Amino acid sequence: MTGSVIVTGMSQAASGEPTFDFSTNVGSLELNTPILTASGCAAAGRELDNYFDITAIGGIVTKSIMLAPRSGRATPRMAETPSGMLNSIGLQGPGVESFIENDLAWLQQRGARTIVSIAGGSAEEFGKVAAKLRIAGGFDAIEVNISCPNVEDRGQVFACRADTAANVIQTVRRNSDSRIPIFAKLSPDVTDIVEIAASVAQAGATGVSVINTLLGMVINTSSMRPALAGVTGGLSGPAIRPVAVRCIWQIRNALPDLPIIGMGGVRSGHDALEMVLAGANAVSVGTSIFNDPSAPMRIQNELEHELRIRGFTKFSQAVSHAHREIDSTLQINTAIDDLDPTDENWDFISE
Ligand SMILES: Cc1cc2nc3c(=O)[nH]c(=O)nc-3n(C[C@H](O)[C@H](O)[C@H](O)COP(=O)(O)O)c2cc1C
Repeated sequence: MTGSVIVTGMSQAASGEPTFDFSTNVGSLELNTPILTASGCAAAGRELDNYFDITAIGGIVTKSIMLAPRSGRATPRMAETPSGMLNSIGLQGPGVESFIENDLAWLQQRGARTIVSIAGGSAEEFGKVAAKLRIAGGFDAIEVNISCPNVEDRGQVFACRADTAANVIQTVRRNSDSRIPIFAKLSPDVTDIVEIAASVAQAGATGVSVINTLLGMVINTSSMRPALAGVTGGLSGPAIRPVAVRCIWQIRNALPDLPIIGMGGVRSGHDALEMVLAGANAVSVGTSIFNDPSAPMRIQNELEHELRIRGFTKFSQAVSHAHREIDSTLQINTAIDDLDPTDENWDFISE
């Protein structure tokens, strides 16, 4: 792995490899590198900063914050599943005022690029949270969590309908500084994710973040009761990656200019590359952090390596590359000599 990312977004390996431009534009959000943390999986980045320099990745997406403090759902609220995990945290958090005073102030002082995730039980609440953030300032973008399936009122999954999703985004847009990019975080638990993406774009979203967790359930066969106190929970981790790649692909195909932050089960640079090729302009890392707190930095280094060995000199060249016309295949140097045919990457390169 090259492991040489510096804050300008340009990197050069110690071996004298050519400079690599890792910067990305996610609409009006300019990032030095394309790897972010996923909301709810890294709090406000403080703990991760003990494992790697959080200013060296693209940015921190904070845990969704609501207007008032919330204790979340009853325990147990985590369960293991094959290739993933189920959570029903229920948006536990200190409320937006405490968040601004403590977490946002720390992130600002630390110099990390910050995307603040917000949530609410009504469009009005989303608007109030956005208005408080506008007064505070000191962040780079807002991610609007319209898709979390864990809030107490199950009727309030805004992301499942185009009109309710759009209404929240319009309200947040109205209550935010017009220069602040806004990303709508979409749920995969819908019939047509493209319809929802188009409606939030129309309502003023800069782009979309895809995907949030899928609604799932585990039964504890000892107690013969649901494993989670909240009965159902959000499924995350490698099990959902193909669903995420499919959603990114479908949105990119239908809406070629809409900025996309991709996420869902990314464990390696190779996984991140898959999302980029499908159309993601940046990639968030979530569940992987729980068993490897340095995962965002490691995955960023691995992604740079994966791009370099395929002959890319800029990250932006790889975005949506899987959508290209088939006869353009020959234009990219796949540097096959660098690859071991027994490596899992080989199939991809040799297709
Ligand atoms: C424990 C946990 C808490 C989460 N909390 C939030 C949250 O507060 N807001 C949000 O938008 N997504 C939340 N998510 C969803 C993640 O941000 C991400 O979209 C999802 O887990 C898929 O990515 P992953 O498989 O890499 O974790 C949470 C996920 C987990 C596992």
